[in-house]
Amino acid sequence: SIDSSFEENREKVDTHRGHDVWGPVEEPEQLGIHGTHVAVDFDVCLADGACLEDCPVDVFEWVDTPGHPESEIKADPTNEAQCIDCMLCVDVCPVDAIDVDAG
Ligand code: SF4
Ligand code: F3S
Ligand code: ZN
Repeated sequence: SIDSSFEENREKVDTHRGHDVWGPVEEPEQLGIHGTHVAVDFDVCLADGACLEDCPVDVFEWVDTPGHPESEIKADPTNEAQCIDCMLCVDVCPVDAIDVDAG
């Protein structure tokens, strides 16, 4: 599952579609965490899709991650600024890949 203290334990190494990427990143096998307010650990996500289906404000979009051992698509928090902190995505993800910092 995602480390909810990732902001202390990891470093920002990149940006992607307007959000931060927290390393380490070693493509294609290791992809790090995408997003900060809505954070998805790409190394944990196995493309279940419940987060995309259930988010009421469409925060997530698929991104292709060919060559990753868990799945070749990931739920990217492209629209994290729209998040209303309902926590549905956190509850439905079967592998706890998502952390939402509801403050
Ligand atoms: Fe969407 Fe709710 Fe998750 Fe925010 S907490 S990304 S609004 S499902
Ligand atoms: Fe991935 Fe969990 Fe969403 S496995 S696609 S973050 S429900
Ligand atoms: Zn991303």
